[in-house]
Amino acid sequence: MLVTLQEIIGMAEAGNFCVPAFNVYNTETIMGVVKAAEEAKAPVIMQLYPRLINEEVGYYLAPAILAAAKKASVPVCFHLDHGPSEQEAMRILRWGATGVMLDGSVHPFEENIALTKHIVDICGAVGVGVEGELGHVGSVNDDAMEEFTDPAEAGEFVKRTGVCCLAVLIGNAHGHYKKPPKLDIERVKAIREATGGLPLVLHGGSGIPDDQVKAAIAAGVRKMNIGTDVCCAFADGTKETLDDPKRSLAIDLFMKHPIERVKQLALEKIHLVGANGKA
Ligand code: 13P
Repeated sequence: MLVTLQEIIGMAEAGNFCVPAFNVYNTETIMGVVKAAEEAKAPVIMQLYPRLINEEVGYYLAPAILAAAKKASVPVCFHLDHGPSEQEAMRILRWGATGVMLDGSVHPFEENIALTKHIVDICGAVGVGVEGELGHVGSVNDDAMEEFTDPAEAGEFVKRTGVCCLAVLIGNAHGHYKKPPKLDIERVKAIREATGGLPLVLHGGSGIPDDQVKAAIAAGVRKMNIGTDVCCAFADGTKETLDDPKRSLAIDLFMKHPIERVKQLALEKIHLVGANGKA
């Protein structure tokens, strides 16, 4: 069933677990994620990068995500990931999204607040909750990490914007880490407290050691994003199929193994964040 961001995050908050948010790129990754969610009886978020929205791949994928969500026996949210502006938010709302992230973390504090609040107002008019970001979560290839999220600023940001969850920078980054990250769990606790217990979001979920993921969830992370691992599972599955002399070139048959690889990856992450059996 299709649910909103605030509903699915609310489930995680009430049940003290974390919802996995998988970046999806094609029909096969959508199918792999939904199969895993149904098998594990887990609520899941499927999200699209703004690149896919602006290149209009999203135009074809949005109906597929909605079809999967509506058919699923578990709660599914269709979310915009890292929306930089009103354009992407409006576009994905028109395509039926039930969650929007406005990532204003590259802007100065006041501009981030103004932009995020504007999107919260627009989305609020159609009942869609908004994820904000404070402290810019960069890439593992960046030379240096920006300053980690400041708890006091986070408290003010949340009060003035009305976001339903907040992405934070605590030692995480997008992509496969060159060496294991060391998440600042004490900071997660401090941000939770300063924001009145707001659900927090951990970006860069591919490759964070399991014990740190669990500690972050215990400290208040309620949504964890997984992108790179989805790509790798799909790519590995495709390569393994290509290398199999018995494989069929009929695309639907060819894709069965890559879909299965994505499903296995999604199952692993669902169990890691404790979302299994929570639907
Ligand atoms: P990874 O690609 O590192 O899993 O990060 C995904 C993400 O945070 C998307 O916003």
